[in-house]
Amino acid sequence: MGRVSSTQDVARQRWAEGSMQLGDAILAEAQSSGRGRFGRTWLSPAGGLYATYIMPVDPLLSLRAGVAVARALRDLGVPAALKWPNDVLIRNKKVAGILIEAMDAAAFVGIGLNLTESPLETATHLAAEGAATDRQPLTERVGKNLFQNAAPSDVLAAYRTFCATLGQNVRILRTGNPPWEGTAEAIDGHGRLLVRTAEGLVTLASGECHHLRPGRSIDPSGVSG
Ligand code: BTN
Repeated sequence: MGRVSSTQDVARQRWAEGSMQLGDAILAEAQSSGRGRFGRTWLSPAGGLYATYIMPVDPLLSLRAGVAVARALRDLGVPAALKWPNDVLIRNKKVAGILIEAMDAAAFVGIGLNLTESPLETATHLAAEGAATDRQPLTERVGKNLFQNAAPSDVLAAYRTFCATLGQNVRILRTGNPPWEGTAEAIDGHGRLLVRTAEGLVTLASGECHHLRPGRSIDPSGVSG
């Protein structure tokens, strides 16, 4: 498709009408109302990859999707890594984001990947990293990785290998509560992040994670129960 409002909306609408099924995808060249996690706008000019894949609901889907994109980029020779849960980074800059929305038995896995420009200064794009930017083969490769039905143990193993968050000092933003700060120690079997804070080990099923600069001291006053 050319320009759409949001591939998420198109996919959800078509699913509700019964004209799409599990395994299908909606691809667009640009979006006028792209959306990201936490209700943010996802700027979507022409020159990016915008796709929504319709997948079965799966407790590890967030990690599975991150691994699918990171692996596709690594196959291009790009050192892609994941910031928990599934921001895709190259050299610590975001190159792709993933939004997962569920409806009935379907999960709508929306992927936005910067190919030839990055709408935000803090982000990067594949061309800047010297990688190929052809949309079609990348979309196919991501889809193939997503739908290969890897066993949970394999998803977790790959995720832990690709995860740039492990060992980092992190800040986890929490709605209505002060952030957690600490060291990211592990990813458990449910894909949750275990963070060692001044108050002990906390287990996070979701949240917005920021990597703090290595060596930055942790301020215990920012930590709450
Ligand atoms: C994030 O906040 O990091 C997730 C961004 C997800 C953006 C993609 S682009 C394709 C799909 N359609 C949308 O409106 N959002 C997702």
